[in-house]
Amino acid sequence: MANPQKTVFGSNFSSDYKFIHHKIKRYRLLVKRKLTIIFNMDKSFKFEIEDSEKYIVSKIYKATKIPTQILYHKIFIENANNNSAGYVIKEQCGKGGASVVYKGVIKDTDETIIIKELKTNNLYKVKREVNILKLCKNIPNVIQLLDFFVNDDCYYLLFPYYNCNSSRTIFYNFTQIEIKIFMKKFLEALEKLHRKGIIHRDLKPGNILVKSCSDFYIIDFGISDFYVPHRKFDTKLGTRNFKAPEQLINIKGFDYGIDIWSSGLIFAEIYFGKYPFWKPEEDIIILENIYNLVGTDKFTEFINEYKTGGVYHFLKNSVEPANLESYFERKASDSIRNNTEENKKAFDLIGKMLEIDPRKRITAHDALKHPYFAN
Ligand SMILES: Nc1ncnc2c1ncn2[C@@H]1O[C@H](COP(=O)(O)OP(=O)(O)O)[C@@H](O)[C@H]1O
Ligand SMILES: [Mg+2]
Repeated sequence: MANPQKTVFGSNFSSDYKFIHHKIKRYRLLVKRKLTIIFNMDKSFKFEIEDSEKYIVSKIYKATKIPTQILYHKIFIENANNNSAGYVIKEQCGKGGASVVYKGVIKDTDETIIIKELKTNNLYKVKREVNILKLCKNIPNVIQLLDFFVNDDCYYLLFPYYNCNSSRTIFYNFTQIEIKIFMKKFLEALEKLHRKGIIHRDLKPGNILVKSCSDFYIIDFGISDFYVPHRKFDTKLGTRNFKAPEQLINIKGFDYGIDIWSSGLIFAEIYFGKYPFWKPEEDIIILENIYNLVGTDKFTEFINEYKTGGVYHFLKNSVEPANLESYFERKASDSIRNNTEENKKAFDLIGKMLEIDPRKRITAHDALKHPYFAN
């Protein structure tokens, strides 16, 4: 943001924007009038931008020769910037890799909100995040978008304020039953996202705001994307520790399975009360961790199957698949450690989520049917 001291949003658009804004407004009126006459529609009908977007873009393009891609973007912004003056920015309360996060209030109601200022001017990414957040509407345990607007060429997302503690402190104090409640709700949310075609791509404790095992929110859809078969994704994006093996060996055609892998790590982390991979500096070190987890046979089968051509120095030491308990050097509380029956089911599910081959990895849908959740 240009000036963080400025507390009320204005409507200070660039001249380029003003010009297009004016044009869009004019053509919207025309379209509205036309539709009203042709279909004898009620004059108070709500304008559905998607229906007439093409018409407006083609009209403005003919008149201005401004590239259609830019016009689509401008319409998207124009459609979203109405209420910015209704909010007041207060203090900064967080900073992610791709944003600065402020607390704010809704002027009318004095309700505290979160205002996330995106550190990008890539409209494609902004649109993607907004569209995905809109699709998350009413999914329990997923952050809810209140509004989106643009001001001084910066993009702002508005969310309810979730007054939560650092997720790790809370996770490590969950009882066994609380872990189960959390994982069930978490996987239910994930299943709903996947059903809508959304891959989160950055699941990790830092992107979960937690009050309790049932009151938590999956946040940060900054690098989320829609799954399209055969589409290649950028494997560099994401948080190294939580990247799935297929991302680490650079298979670009990945899918929802990467979210299951990172959820498996989150599950293991909560269950074992320990951060599984210690701040590794390089992808190869995580791959070595994975190698020690799944053992030589599975790992070699995986790299042969996907023909990566990578060089893995650790292959010279042959290892057996790890026993999860010793692999994660369990620091869980006594009540968890001694509950063997429950542990067996939990380890089985963690193992299925941390399956190295994405095609054999369990889905969110099937994970929810696992015996671990039966009681
Ligand atoms: N709705 C919210 N309520 C409270 N804190 C939030 C909320 N949304 C984000 N934050 C805080 O801001 C940080 C960054 O937000 P996030 O969406 O993860 O952005 P980034 O993409 O930059 O990582 C979060 O880690 C969290 O501390
Ligand atoms: Mg984040």
